[in-house]
Amino acid sequence: MTPFASHYALHVLAAVLWVGGMFFAWMVLRPAAVAVLQAPERLRLWAEVFRRFVQWVWIAVAVLPISGIGMWHLRFGAMASAPRYVHVMTGLYLVMLALFLRLVLLQLPALRRAIEGQDWPAGGAVLGKIRALVGLNLLLGMALIAIATARPEF
Ligand code: HEM
Repeated sequence: MTPFASHYALHVLAAVLWVGGMFFAWMVLRPAAVAVLQAPERLRLWAEVFRRFVQWVWIAVAVLPISGIGMWHLRFGAMASAPRYVHVMTGLYLVMLALFLRLVLLQLPALRRAIEGQDWPAGGAVLGKIRALVGLNLLLGMALIAIATARPEF
């Protein structure tokens, strides 16, 4: 396996893990939880789901720029000589990272506090914000993968 191929494999695996996980949470687990669980159980389920998912996303968040910059160096050399879609990918990664940090540092602690205090209306409000944030990050991630694979020449 060439150095480029190993970077490429890690990069795509990390993208699949992060974006695929958000797709599953938003499109599959969320409606299933609404259909089956009452508010207290649903909030506890999401706190536990995010506690586990976030650990994997931290890995993806680290692997994506390391492998991405490695491929950038191996394929295109200087930063400025890479095609525009690679610059767009890097910019969108930073936006996705900022949204992920907002989730981890602000919204998940607020969700845990609401659960500990058994304040279900407050927990429901935080969960609504988390849903919007993860939905936005999912759209960004899917757009990013579409751009990365289509390699548009803009
Ligand atoms: C600092 C962040 C990132 C950098 C520097 C970066 C850089 C790169 C580079 C240099 C390539 C190879 C392009 C080519 O060979 O034409 C690539 C491919 C790819 N990147 Fe990224 N990337 C970053 C973040 C992301 C993120 C956040 C995602 C998705 C969530 C992503 C998804 C992909 C995919 C799916 C490919 C494969 C495209 C293909 O060859 O079909 N990247 N990236």
